[in-house]
Amino acid sequence: MADYKQQVIDFFDSRTSYDTEGEKHPREAKKLLSSVLVEPGQSILDIATGTGLLAISAAQKVAPTGSVIGVDFSSGMLAQAREKIAADGIDNLELIQKDIESIEFDAEQFDLIFCCSAIVYIVDVPGIIGKCYSWLKPGGCLVFTTPYKTSYMAEIHVRLCRELLNIDLPHIIRPLWTPEKCRWQLQQYGFKNIEIEVDRTKRLRSLTNRYDTHWHGQGFFPRGNPLTNLTAAQKELLLVGYQKAIADRVTDEGVWQDCTTLYVRAYK
Ligand SMILES: C[S@@+](CC[C@H](N)C(=O)[O-])C[C@H]1O[C@@H](n2cnc3c(N)ncnc32)[C@H](O)[C@@H]1O
Repeated sequence: MADYKQQVIDFFDSRTSYDTEGEKHPREAKKLLSSVLVEPGQSILDIATGTGLLAISAAQKVAPTGSVIGVDFSSGMLAQAREKIAADGIDNLELIQKDIESIEFDAEQFDLIFCCSAIVYIVDVPGIIGKCYSWLKPGGCLVFTTPYKTSYMAEIHVRLCRELLNIDLPHIIRPLWTPEKCRWQLQQYGFKNIEIEVDRTKRLRSLTNRYDTHWHGQGFFPRGNPLTNLTAAQKELLLVGYQKAIADRVTDEGVWQDCTTLYVRAYK
């Protein structure tokens, strides 16, 4: 798993202008933050805080008596957050560079725990949900986003692996990719009053970008990758199947990629 985590760190370290890459991340952080009541005096944890898109606004909302802790293991993402924190003169946001899966907090320490656009990268998703339940005060809320199963061609990847290779792909978004799975998983740890909004969005992908048109098994695999030892012929099968699926979706504008996202709130 060390290799997988280093792969994630390297990927985010390389994204040196994350906030201006597109609309998706700023929009998602803003929408998630506004989905719950954030008020002065609260104690907040932002899991996988990245460049602080959500944490910085949260810190401004809970000031002057409240505070925010943002945890992330990418030094590159945190460096971008630090620049903004200094520029905005924020003094109630602490950044910790650590793996969220190996950090400890006191029980009942936080009023709110956010995790925006990041829970899919966690190796032990049920484990982190259980820890969040413990770290929240009674009545506190875990607030996160997670991609719906139709997002990022995930259903196509899973279907092609099943149909062409007889492999049940443990896709990165599978643990929480439907409202039913989210609800069930959260209930296992005692969360109640679970509210899930399905936000239907999509984005246009370029047909000239290999990243968008060439899939033959690459990706992030937090829970083991059954595609590492594919033969060249098996990779070719996946690639041809994927390109057929993409061709079926081409419009005059290009290929629309579904980015439907679940906005989840769960109370302790
Ligand atoms: C897509 S970014 C989201 C950042 C921010 N939450 C936002 O909404 O813009 C995902 C972040 O998760 C972080 N991350 C992934 N797994 C992590 C882990 N186990 N511990 C700490 N950070 C992690 C990455 O370093 C990256 O900054």
